[in-house]
Amino acid sequence: MTRYDTIGRTYTLTRRPDPRIAAQIAAALGNATRVVNVGGGTGSYEPDDRFVVAAEVSLTMLRQRSEGAAPAVQSRAEALPFRDGAFDAALATLTLHHWGHLERGLSEMQRVARAQVIFFFEPTLSRDFWLFAEYFPEIAALESERAAPGLDRLAATLAVHHVEPVAVPADCRDGFAACYWNRPEAYLDPVVQAGISSFAQLEPEVRRAGTERLRRDLASGAWDERHGELRDLTEIDICYRLLVAGHLS
Ligand SMILES: C[S@@+](CC[C@H](N)C(=O)[O-])C[C@H]1O[C@@H](n2cnc3c(N)ncnc32)[C@H](O)[C@@H]1O
Repeated sequence: MTRYDTIGRTYTLTRRPDPRIAAQIAAALGNATRVVNVGGGTGSYEPDDRFVVAAEVSLTMLRQRSEGAAPAVQSRAEALPFRDGAFDAALATLTLHHWGHLERGLSEMQRVARAQVIFFFEPTLSRDFWLFAEYFPEIAALESERAAPGLDRLAATLAVHHVEPVAVPADCRDGFAACYWNRPEAYLDPVVQAGISSFAQLEPEVRRAGTERLRRDLASGAWDERHGELRDLTEIDICYRLLVAGHLS
């Protein structure tokens, strides 16, 4: 059993690719025509105009891939079942913080593809996000959060070409952790919480207590007093980044 065999059962209910983020990722993939999506999960952000294969460790996630999704093999990032240089680009979206051996996985991405495109969150910034800082500080202590690599660690292995911020739209379609930055009521919903790995790993009592604090602050207006201006923004740069490494041309 892998982590996502347990926490990924309802993934597709809330986790669908956001089209604006998908367009940014597609642009970062440049002219790559053969792409491997490592930790590809249910297939979010896989371009449909190129040859794509997904490598994913969890059967629960593989089973939720749609009929028209790219072919996928059950495998770990740390031991990809592909020959050297089989792909133009190796893509990884919101997955690195779950890997057992980050550097081994990154080296595998380098071995099978001449370029690497990675959508990740910068942990030094995500800790300041109001949801984590004010309501669920326990999230910072989770194994997956402590393992989350920032740019410094990624750059120690990868030949980084550039890094760009990924703005999160006010109506972001993909329910990842900070996606509801301007829609705090959404975080009260157990289905939304189940789609966010950090919530899904919290002890039920910790999760309940933080949720009740947020519910009270929304009812009393305290949340809006502190953060109400967020509701008027159209997008925000919280902590998400897109990194391109290696050679795409
Ligand atoms: C948050 S989900 C992201 C899925 C997909 N990339 C997306 O953007 O929706 C993290 C995925 O990484 C997978 N994963 C975790 N550790 C892995 C590993 N060592 N090798 C391959 N996949 C892994 C999980 O099973 C899960 O499907």
